[in-house]
Amino acid sequence: MKPLASIVLAAGKGTRMKSSTIKVLHSVAGLQMISWPVAAAREAGSDTVVVVVGHQANAVQGVFRGASDIRCAMQEEQLGTGHAVACALDALTGFRGTVLILCGDTPLLRPETLKKMLAYHHDSGAAVTVLTALMDDPYGYGRVVRDSSGMVCRIVEQKDASIEEQEIREINSGIYCMDSLFLFDNIRAIGSNNAQGEYYLTDLLSIAVSKGLTCIAMPASDPDEIMGVNDRVQLAEADCLLRGRINREHMLNGVSMIDPLTTYIEHGVSIGADTVIHPGCRICAGTVIGSGCEIEQNVIISGCRIGNDCHIKASSVLEQSELGEDVAIGPMAHLRPGTVLSNKVKIGNFVETKKVIMGEGSKASHLTYLGDAEIGSGVNIGCGTITCNYDGVNKHRTIIGDNVFIGSDVQLVAPVNVGSNSLVAAGTTVTVDVPPDSLALSRVPQLNKVGWKLKKKS
Ligand code: UD1
Ligand code: CA
Repeated sequence: MKPLASIVLAAGKGTRMKSSTIKVLHSVAGLQMISWPVAAAREAGSDTVVVVVGHQANAVQGVFRGASDIRCAMQEEQLGTGHAVACALDALTGFRGTVLILCGDTPLLRPETLKKMLAYHHDSGAAVTVLTALMDDPYGYGRVVRDSSGMVCRIVEQKDASIEEQEIREINSGIYCMDSLFLFDNIRAIGSNNAQGEYYLTDLLSIAVSKGLTCIAMPASDPDEIMGVNDRVQLAEADCLLRGRINREHMLNGVSMIDPLTTYIEHGVSIGADTVIHPGCRICAGTVIGSGCEIEQNVIISGCRIGNDCHIKASSVLEQSELGEDVAIGPMAHLRPGTVLSNKVKIGNFVETKKVIMGEGSKASHLTYLGDAEIGSGVNIGCGTITCNYDGVNKHRTIIGDNVFIGSDVQLVAPVNVGSNSLVAAGTTVTVDVPPDSLALSRVPQLNKVGWKLKKKS
């Protein structure tokens, strides 16, 4: 296999998105759009990827900061796709091999299709190979013009096409591969004498043919793959198709989905077999879920590691948290970042946690706020407990030892320590440390005025 480099065009603004953010930075299934073709190029075997940037160049560069195989090339003015590729060539000085050219707005392209196209290209010995598709409605795309023997002779843009050419259903995907020498030698030969006054990359095909070289077209087996996203309708379509692919892969790996159409799993999520996901869940990039879990309706999970056999009940929200095995959450619980729960922990309804470590088997079953706390194992947190962690200026920690029983409606005014095996009575406001094996009680003794109500009536 010859060395492979890729150029991804992403300098345009994407006016039809009607957005202050450029098109290729919009998210598709949890990844910025530009990342999809770049990932496909890498998977197809590219050692170097040059991303052509223009509008919001810094933001696009930021997506790839730290990736040593990706270079950004600046196209100050967007004078057309041919000009964009010319701007990328400095970054490939000295490169000899095959160059793959992609568009930043085709997130559905599969790496397998690129590999197939590269093999087709090498086998045929063509100067240029273009990926095409047969469309029922080809409007807007460049059309592939073939001669009477079926050989590709050029590509004509919608705005330049004659009535007959507009009838052609084979369209240009904007994805090509070609030999680097051919590209370097001919990119400057592209002119801008056309309806849009732009430098069309597609002119490379007619240039090749005029030199007696061959161009071939490989129709994609799945036309969805080459769908370019131009507006928000297509953005939603692309997102839906990618989600479908992601869900399918999880299901084939043994994950059950009650309703895949309403299950939103971003790219880069790992889920173990025999986990069941109910409708309306959203699982964001970077989450790892073990096997045998049940994720009930309308749960949102982002950036979490969840062990095996956990049960996440309806409408809970879990962010950047770690759960051991056999943990039960919710319904309607909110785990905020920094929540670390050991095996068999139970967090019940209307409980909020933040930066909390809880030991094995500990429970907070109802209506509680636990923040900045370290809680041992076998602890029971009663209903309505609050860690008062914030004094208006600083956050303070609450430390609770093993096997502590916190009664209902307790306030723990941090910083405070509750020693192991202690019991904090219901209604207590804990303001000083509780030694181990003790009872803490701060309620005002109850006073019963017998007959008081009767006297009031009379
Ligand atoms: C292009 C093709 C067309 C093809 C279609 C497929 C040309 C002349 N036409 O048309 O045959 O059917 O793609 O979707 O190539 N870009 C730059 N700099 C520029 C111009 C464009 O980086 O100066 C980038 C855009 O950001 C985009 C990509 O190139 O990612 C394609 O540009 P776009 O304007 O969408 O081309 P189309 O008119 O769709
Ligand atoms: Ca386009």
